Amino acid sequence: MRTHYCGLIDEALVGQTVTLCGWVNTIRLQSHVAFVDLRDHEGLAQVVVERENAGAFAVAGEVGNEYCLRVTGTIRKRLSVNDKLRTGTVELLADKVEILNAAKDLPFALHENPNEDMRMTYRYLDLRRPEMQRMMRTRIKLVQALRRYLDARGFQDIETPILTKATPEGARDYLVPSRVHPGQFYALPQSPQLFKQILMMAGFDRYYQIARCFRDEDLRADRQPEFTQLDLEFAFVEEKDVQDFVEELIRHVFKEVQCVELDATFPRMTWAEAMRRFGSDKPDLRIPLELVDIADAVKHVEFKVFAEPANDANGRVAALRVPGGATFTRKEIDQLTEYVAKYGAKGLAWLRVDDLSKGRDGINSPVAKFLDDAALEGVLKRTGAESGDMVFFGAGSWKAVTDFMGALRLKVGKDRGMVENTWKPLWVTDFPMFEYDEEEKRFVALHHPFTAPKVDDIADLRANAANAVSRGYDMVLNGAEIGGGSIRIHRPEMQSTVFDLLGISPEEAELKFGFLLKALKFGAPPHGGLAFGIDRIAALMAGTESIRDVIAFPKTTSAQDLMTDAPSMVSEPQLKELHVRIAAADKQHY
Ligand code: AMO
Ligand code: AMP
Repeated sequence: MRTHYCGLIDEALVGQTVTLCGWVNTIRLQSHVAFVDLRDHEGLAQVVVERENAGAFAVAGEVGNEYCLRVTGTIRKRLSVNDKLRTGTVELLADKVEILNAAKDLPFALHENPNEDMRMTYRYLDLRRPEMQRMMRTRIKLVQALRRYLDARGFQDIETPILTKATPEGARDYLVPSRVHPGQFYALPQSPQLFKQILMMAGFDRYYQIARCFRDEDLRADRQPEFTQLDLEFAFVEEKDVQDFVEELIRHVFKEVQCVELDATFPRMTWAEAMRRFGSDKPDLRIPLELVDIADAVKHVEFKVFAEPANDANGRVAALRVPGGATFTRKEIDQLTEYVAKYGAKGLAWLRVDDLSKGRDGINSPVAKFLDDAALEGVLKRTGAESGDMVFFGAGSWKAVTDFMGALRLKVGKDRGMVENTWKPLWVTDFPMFEYDEEEKRFVALHHPFTAPKVDDIADLRANAANAVSRGYDMVLNGAEIGGGSIRIHRPEMQSTVFDLLGISPEEAELKFGFLLKALKFGAPPHGGLAFGIDRIAALMAGTESIRDVIAFPKTTSAQDLMTDAPSMVSEPQLKELHVRIAAADKQHY
């Protein structure tokens, strides 16, 4: 149908007859000539249709944007070179212009930034935009590079079921009703976690899969209800084996896809240190701001906002010094106070250092009057504040302060242009094994219930469950959690103990995970692994904030596919066959 790609014609073709196919990017009709920028997936070519060629000129007069054309003609040098275009030194002088298909008036101009709903409804038009083509291709290259690397190293690519039993990763399940087993449901996998563990027990040694995962959770820019993992599992390994291997893998793909050399070794940081210094378990190390604990400097003050949490084992008083932050206006401070309130802050105390040498007189702060000289000096010393700086304070429960001061750090860093233009990967390790869920009044697993604790001894774990540390690890890149994994429990007694500590009764454990407990009893090897979020890595590589830009057909934040209009209603007979009845309250839609 065509001889060349539009975006690849060059001076070597001058004088040759070629046929191009593509879409009308723009058309300029003049009295004697028409210029069509024809676009295909390689780029743009300028097509010139002269009036002397009456047939072709008449066709050109009919076409509009996004018409699909086939043009045959001769390549010639351009009189005025367009430096911005890869094909800018040449053009195609048309002999014949054929309309392969017409296009209706577009719902949005492709070169403008259309609104999100429009983009999703007309995704095929959205994806035609060169920016989208570029981002999707970054993802494709990433996946190719990952596969090549793993295939070359003996990893077994094995598919695991999509219709399966619930695999808990902390989200709600998507369920599929069974036609042949009335009242029973499959769950779509939140991850292939248990299958990959069982593959290690089955002797496959090293597994990978580019696996689709399904999680019915609240969506954000970095979360989709179905997303893709690079899922990995290794038998006979410890933390360092897995970490060293995948670190090299990530370095390799960044070099291959992005021509970026990441650090030779990624720094490792415990979860406790990350929360203390950055208020986050996925710290963005590109921002040179850190939280500082000041509880011991303000324990004795009368200002209750500080003193109470400073004297409470579950409290926290933290400061964030912003170098040069004295330029914050009152309005900006008010806006930041509103911002942190969303993260649970009851206020945001601040202290502006106008002139450090003047002591108290050089300070401007609504809370300075509540701090005696010792406290003020302690705070200034601890934060290392200098003239021209601003110090913000967070006080309250450890969790709230850590969250909102972590959010403040990111916001201030981004708003003030303090984000270094670089790549900052790291490992976060030593996560707590359990987290206490206030609502459910029980422990929940911070990672998933198959992650091994650091202590080997069951009695030790039981005695100190609240403070137990897990063998889990996350890889973080520029503030995004791009991968998470752990060394798994491989002894059945330990797995039963962890279920028990999580409040899962032996009956429930048997019902949900009986197959795993059974498999662990037949010589299961020590094993561990990790899963990377491919969408997140692709988004980082493509330089976009949203993983929707690197997923061909993503869902909206309300989990809809606006193009196909899914989810949608199904017919009564279909429901009947599946033994499903719609509750009366939801029936008005039917
Ligand atoms: P985890 O739940 O941490 O671990 O998931 C691994 C990685 O997958 C990505 N990710 C997501 N990406 C897009 N949308 C989502 N909703 C979403 N949820 C997670 C993240 C995350 O780091 N089975 C374990 C892995 C293991 O232990 O080996 C698991 O699924 O980048
Ligand atoms: P108040 O005594 O509540 O009027 O607060 C005095 C100052 O402390 C104000 O600047 C508040 O913004 C600030 N503040 C109040 N609660 C907190 C808190 N939990 N953390 C940090 N600052 C706070």
